[in-house]
Amino acid sequence: MSTVKRDFGSFHASNVQELLDLSNEEYTPPPAPFTCPKFDKYRTETPHFGKDMRNKHFHLEEDCVFLNHGAFGGVLREALETAQKYQVWVEKQPLRFYDRELLPRLVYVTRRIAQFVGCDRRDLVLVENATTALNTVIQSVPLGPGEKLFCLSTTYGAVKKMLSWCCEQTGAHLCQATVDFPITDEQQLVDLVERNLEAGTKLAVFDHISSNTPFVMPIKDIIRVCHEKHIPVLVDGAHALGSLHLDISSLDADYYVTNAHKWLCAPKGTALMYVRRELQEKTRPLIVSHGFGSGFNSEFIWAGLHDYSPFLALHTVLDFWETLGVESILNYTHDLAKKAGDMLVKAWGTELAAPPHMFGSMSLVGLPPSLYAQEKPADYSVAEKIQNDLYHQYNMEVPVKSVQGRLYVRISAHIYNHLGEYELLRDAVIGKMQENKN
Ligand SMILES: Cc1ncc(COP(=O)(O)O)c(C=O)c1O
Repeated sequence: MSTVKRDFGSFHASNVQELLDLSNEEYTPPPAPFTCPKFDKYRTETPHFGKDMRNKHFHLEEDCVFLNHGAFGGVLREALETAQKYQVWVEKQPLRFYDRELLPRLVYVTRRIAQFVGCDRRDLVLVENATTALNTVIQSVPLGPGEKLFCLSTTYGAVKKMLSWCCEQTGAHLCQATVDFPITDEQQLVDLVERNLEAGTKLAVFDHISSNTPFVMPIKDIIRVCHEKHIPVLVDGAHALGSLHLDISSLDADYYVTNAHKWLCAPKGTALMYVRRELQEKTRPLIVSHGFGSGFNSEFIWAGLHDYSPFLALHTVLDFWETLGVESILNYTHDLAKKAGDMLVKAWGTELAAPPHMFGSMSLVGLPPSLYAQEKPADYSVAEKIQNDLYHQYNMEVPVKSVQGRLYVRISAHIYNHLGEYELLRDAVIGKMQENKN
């Protein structure tokens, strides 16, 4: 059997799979080659979320009202520092790094992040982004003419394209069920899937948190409904890690994909793909390289020579989350998204696109119809114009979404945000309504 040829020296293992198999008692992590940032002060000092976090731990420009973490994340300052230190470290002795250090370090990151997301480390691989993982899974499903794939109308646009492309190539058919807004409760979604998902479907794909309309899917119930019909489920959790309590094993998904470079604040180019053990043999990497044929983890760990520093910086990201506490971070972000949503609907006389408890660190808030009544229909181009106006006139980043003839703002809440920023959004929208009147 071929393998990734690397020197595992003192690691009591001769390859990636063996190193992952070692129990925690048998396993010794490789020491970092330099001093990494630590967050020990938060062991005794209560963190001040909001402006203080932003100044200390993020690179965001001071005068921008940044309410769109959901788009491309925002890196933790110290994680970027670790990644940059690795980039320099690599170049001091590239052979030592790529031949002797990299794989054991990637295994260590995999072991740590698997524990963080609640799954067996042998069922998880690091990939560059959710897009790569989603393509990997979707392309691994054998399809023939007349066979079916399933998704919802709210599925991420790029994923719909992946599914349609596979159908075009194989003669399979993509079935889509429409989510009606505003959503009343979780049961509406469970019933929708139950009614529309046909037995024999080859794969059903669901967002854990929808991108444009960021309600949290009752994913456990949805998976149960699919499994009752013997249909495998791919969960696109691109927004989940760092914005929800994530415990992958408890969901019973067949495939679970999530980004670390979004809500967890890792450097860009960091995502995870979980695959149920029985399906791993059929889930092959899009990029075939040295590890091919040597087991699931070995196949994905080396995708050719590239910059692996974002993966290695995950240690710093996890140090941050573990020191501050996942609970305290999520309490802050969820509470802020809820308070901000509440305040905006009251001020604008509108409603949320789903009940408040169905949102996590993002919320979808109706814009006042009088803001866009003169611009019928309220489509993507009208939404884009308002979004651009908010940016150009107010230096405010907040996406405007067109959903079934209404416009909404999708607000994000991270640890660097505070209520005052959503008050600025409130006033900016009221200001624009005045402009329209004059
Ligand atoms: C639901 C969903 N899936 C997939 C993606 C793709 O993520 P990435 O660009 O990191 O591959 C996104 C990005 O925002 C998303 O929101």
